Amino acid sequence: ADMKTIARMVSTTQSSFEQCGQRLRDGKLVSFPTETVYGLGCHALDQSAVQKVFDAKERPLSDPLIVHVTKSEDALELWDASTSMSRSAISNQAQQQEIEKKALNVLTEAFFPGPLTLVARAHPSIPQILMANTGFVACRSPSHPIARALISAAKVPIAAPSANKFGHVSPTLAEHVMDDLGQEDVWIIDPTLDAAEGTKEQQGHSPVCQVGVESTVAKVEMSNEQTKGSITILRHGAISSSSIREALAKNGLSDYFEVSDSVRFTSEKVSNVAPGQTIKHYSPNVPCFMVDASRQCQQNELSQEEKAILAQSVIIDYGKRLSGYQQHVLAYRDLSVEGDASMAASSVFETLRWSERIQGANRVFVPDIILANNEDALDLAVKDKLTRAASAVIVNTFA
Ligand code: TXA
Ligand code: MG
Repeated sequence: ADMKTIARMVSTTQSSFEQCGQRLRDGKLVSFPTETVYGLGCHALDQSAVQKVFDAKERPLSDPLIVHVTKSEDALELWDASTSMSRSAISNQAQQQEIEKKALNVLTEAFFPGPLTLVARAHPSIPQILMANTGFVACRSPSHPIARALISAAKVPIAAPSANKFGHVSPTLAEHVMDDLGQEDVWIIDPTLDAAEGTKEQQGHSPVCQVGVESTVAKVEMSNEQTKGSITILRHGAISSSSIREALAKNGLSDYFEVSDSVRFTSEKVSNVAPGQTIKHYSPNVPCFMVDASRQCQQNELSQEEKAILAQSVIIDYGKRLSGYQQHVLAYRDLSVEGDASMAASSVFETLRWSERIQGANRVFVPDIILANNEDALDLAVKDKLTRAASAVIVNTFA
């Protein structure tokens, strides 16, 4: 196979945004940073452009994309709730649609721009490929200034999944996108490029994608049979279900919605109900395993066989849960020694990619994280990413 690099890094000058905007209108691909992760963007209403995104990522067509806009009004237009009711609609249905519309207004008002994606009934004009024939379209308004400048320059809504190969670790740096999609016809916006010289400038410590994990995905669904509508969290991110409940309550909508988390953890399993949220996801190119919580404490009882395995392994820790094994492994990193969820979220993907680069590493071990009931939304997100990186496989021995 021809492994020639076709992708190109571009800077953040005004003319660069204008060229990128033109590329998007022409049906081509541009990868850009958001406050969560890097996206692989295309013209959302151009079916062949959307097809290119699925092809570049090698992503199954059953996994729908998120549409990115700058203003709430633009999202409301993509959802069907904005259209006026037909006269023939029965009154219960009309009332349900009024409530749906109000909820979407309240939630976009409260959380846009920011790391929340809302899924709702799509306007009939939305291409089916974008929403995997579900009839529901996902929209979000990123807060990152580069993402916003790009969408504004494109003057069209931008569909963007994370800019990684399907199933691989999500990218939080331009280099990550280049590593996964270097053979594709894509321009990658890299804010660390010096505009004048085309060389790297000194990089500060703050990451480009500050949140570091994908947006919370919440699906708003009305029902004609039941009295209440539902808002279901399909993916954990920085916006918590309790903050969604609060926003509804403040606007007198509590009685109309049941807010629930569909992504539930038991000690051994993670359920999988959202399209595209497969168990094997975010996986490094090295076999990855979660270490059982009880094994995490038995640090003096390593067999010879376990010691031999650990000598060729990497540990990605969180809150020092596996620190007792540090001396036995090839490489060790802790996402946050203090157990700080936002710090862990901002480094989890970079750290998973780091583990792939360790010479001689045959396995990656991560802790199975047992959470308290009042956990941070980002603790749930970090647990989710590590669980999927390990394909939900829990071990109680290293051998
Ligand atoms: O933070 C983010 O959301 C990033 C940045 C680039 O904005 N994007 C992102 O996109 O994570 P992606 O394609 O990697 O994840 C999209 C997920 C799908 O896998 C699915 O779980 C959910 O969003 N989703 C999208 N459309 C949906 C729909 N119509 N119904 C249900 N879930 C949907
Ligand atoms: Mg993704």
